Amino acid sequence: MDLLTTELNTRLHNTRASTLWLVDENIQLDTAANPTVHVVGNRLDVIERLQQHGWQAAFSDFDLSGLAAGGFDQILYRVSKEKPVVHYLISEAQRLLRPDGQLVLLGDKGEGIRTYAKKAAECLGGSRQEQKLGKESWCAEITRGLTGGSCPEHQCYPELRPACEDTRHTYWSKPGLFGWNKIDRGSALLIEHLPNMLDTTLPLSGSVLDLGCGFGYLALNVAGGATRLVCSDNNAAALRACRHNLDQAGLTQAEVLAANAGDRLTPGFDTIVCNPPFHSGFSVDGDLTDRFLAASQRLLAVNGSACFVVNQHIPLERKAAGLFADIHTCLDSGQFKLVRLRQPINLQSQGYS
Ligand SMILES: C[S@@+](CC[C@H](N)C(=O)[O-])C[C@H]1O[C@@H](n2cnc3c(N)ncnc32)[C@H](O)[C@@H]1O
Repeated sequence: MDLLTTELNTRLHNTRASTLWLVDENIQLDTAANPTVHVVGNRLDVIERLQQHGWQAAFSDFDLSGLAAGGFDQILYRVSKEKPVVHYLISEAQRLLRPDGQLVLLGDKGEGIRTYAKKAAECLGGSRQEQKLGKESWCAEITRGLTGGSCPEHQCYPELRPACEDTRHTYWSKPGLFGWNKIDRGSALLIEHLPNMLDTTLPLSGSVLDLGCGFGYLALNVAGGATRLVCSDNNAAALRACRHNLDQAGLTQAEVLAANAGDRLTPGFDTIVCNPPFHSGFSVDGDLTDRFLAASQRLLAVNGSACFVVNQHIPLERKAAGLFADIHTCLDSGQFKLVRLRQPINLQSQGYS
């Protein structure tokens, strides 16, 4: 366990004050639930895990509007990867902490923790104490003054806005989700080659699943004619953006579902499109690819096709062996691979359709 996690767990365990714990994707849980702590987080898998351990935890895109001003003695936050999220949560701390309350920020030097601590002290109008936990890691305690100061710019974090476009759509998005203001080049490549991969034309017919949908780029480009369209992600910001984009495109019947690697979905999709994640927080997580492959195997109809785009270095074909009987690399661009998976093995042997 790293030093930041140890420090966070100690504080979570010991606190008797009214505490808000803000969690992103980058936490490891190793402490029993503390009833004085209220948790808010934007990743479904993290929140569900905390709830299973007895924590009072809510899943949202850090929507703290329902929490009373000045209602907390303490806020604990291990800083997120994206600057606008951190800036937004520092600004919210100004509203949510009582005078003399404390914002405790934890992070590594390379993540900008010391700069965040300075900005937070200015915003909260109070004093700051920093403790070095190890070579790289820091814990900063910022006390809220009677009057707050100016808070760091968070680019209107909660609001969706037009973020990027192509000839077909304008995509609305927001900070807090993967590559929020650009079209992913791998995903664009998948859309370009999908008709060849499936030997058909777009839009697709039948039932379609966009697994790990982000703001809905793949869904919007494949699914105008689908009998059923499901988009799912574990990130609350992504789900909001995706719902908005589908509605704007008239796809109001499409379902947008919160799920951890598709775990809540029922099988039977004719087509699955997927650009799987391989980062979790600050680190690379190879297991995520395996989990997305296993979900596709479970969710695909016997005669369906799952079309993946991955970075060239990911051994998707090897990972998919044993899960699918038909694995075909349709394109290797040198940077991305497009892989079509058919005949999910378990479903076949069990005779499901
Ligand atoms: C590489 S992005 C692809 C986004 C979008 N499909 C596109 O093509 O632009 C991967 C997506 O997987 C989502 N994701 C990461 N971990 C997940 C998990 N455990 N369960 C569901 N979705 C997850 C991320 O939030 C992100 O939206």
